[in-house]
Amino acid sequence: MEYRKLGNSDLEVSVVGFGAWGIGGAPFWKNEGDEASKSAIAKAADLGVNFFDTAPVYGFGRSEELIGEALKSRRDKVFIATKCGLRWKKERLGAIDKDCSKKSILEEVDLSLKRLQTDVIDLYQVHWPDNKTQAEETMEALLEIQQKGKVRAIGVSNYSAAQMGDCLKFGRIDSLQPEYSLLQRKIEKETVPFCLENNVGIIAYSPLASGVLTGKYDKNTHFKDWRGKGILGEFIGEAFVRNIAKVDRLKEISRTEGKSCAQLAVNWVIRQPGLTCALSGVKNADQVAENLESVGWEPERSNEIDEIFAVASA
Ligand SMILES: NC(=O)c1ccc[n+]([C@@H]2O[C@H](COP(=O)([O-])OP(=O)(O)OC[C@H]3O[C@@H](n4cnc5c(N)ncnc54)[C@H](OP(=O)(O)O)[C@@H]3O)[C@@H](O)[C@H]2O)c1
Repeated sequence: MEYRKLGNSDLEVSVVGFGAWGIGGAPFWKNEGDEASKSAIAKAADLGVNFFDTAPVYGFGRSEELIGEALKSRRDKVFIATKCGLRWKKERLGAIDKDCSKKSILEEVDLSLKRLQTDVIDLYQVHWPDNKTQAEETMEALLEIQQKGKVRAIGVSNYSAAQMGDCLKFGRIDSLQPEYSLLQRKIEKETVPFCLENNVGIIAYSPLASGVLTGKYDKNTHFKDWRGKGILGEFIGEAFVRNIAKVDRLKEISRTEGKSCAQLAVNWVIRQPGLTCALSGVKNADQVAENLESVGWEPERSNEIDEIFAVASA
């Protein structure tokens, strides 16, 4: 495993992190049960992953609980990242609201600490910007809980360069968590240069485009989970068909490289400028073992991969 410093923080994180969205299960994903989830977490830690990313909204608390239970005995050896700013009134997809107010963040951090069975969260990230709340108020809440020792580093997710600029007027942020993969490259133009200039570490989410880059789907796939609902990403319609055509070309390259499509896709992400870590979403220990073989090499046909995916989704 390779480790990189996250922004200006004192966290040295593995270049592949554990993404705990999928193991949270419903209403987003179908997981493989608690045993498979816990063995995936243990396998990742055994293989050198020291960075685990979760969020309250993943499985409406269940993902945080699983991370807490599975990492309790190794707490001093791993970094736990979670998030704030998405609240739910009912446990269903349509009932999630953005709320980055101070009152809400002060409540949320204590709920997360409890579910994670820990005294401190290593990286606390605002999940999505909330247009109703000023950056000043959100930053005030984050800096207050940092001063109280409840969180170590502060990050944001799904923020634009301008939104990060607003936050930096009030205090330091160490990381941005954006979507980034061969199929989703919209951060390259403004966001990556901003992060490089301001030493904000980039933690890429969905490096496999939530499974599409594994090569296991075809153009006739109809997703029954959140991916079929058109909320995020391109899993339906013509854009999906175009993506599958590119992934089919990656499959051909994967055969000559002796690497899986998933490995080529994660490997590409961690070789990009400004990238600190790719968060690999996994459901079981076999996926963990496969995806962690993405580190420490460069494919011979890397130019061809760049060409295939050069015209990526906006
Ligand atoms: N901040 C945000 O707004 C945000 C948004 C999305 C994600 N994230 C974070 O980023 C993490 C990763 O994103 P993601 O879950 O969308 O992930 P991803 O890594 O792009 O794809 C993960 C999915 O691909 C499948 N998969 C993974 N490895 C595989 C392998 N070797 N072979 C076959 N299938 C494999 C699994 O689903 P199946 O087994 O069901 O096929 C897995 O759930 C999340 O867990 C979360 O921590 C953050």
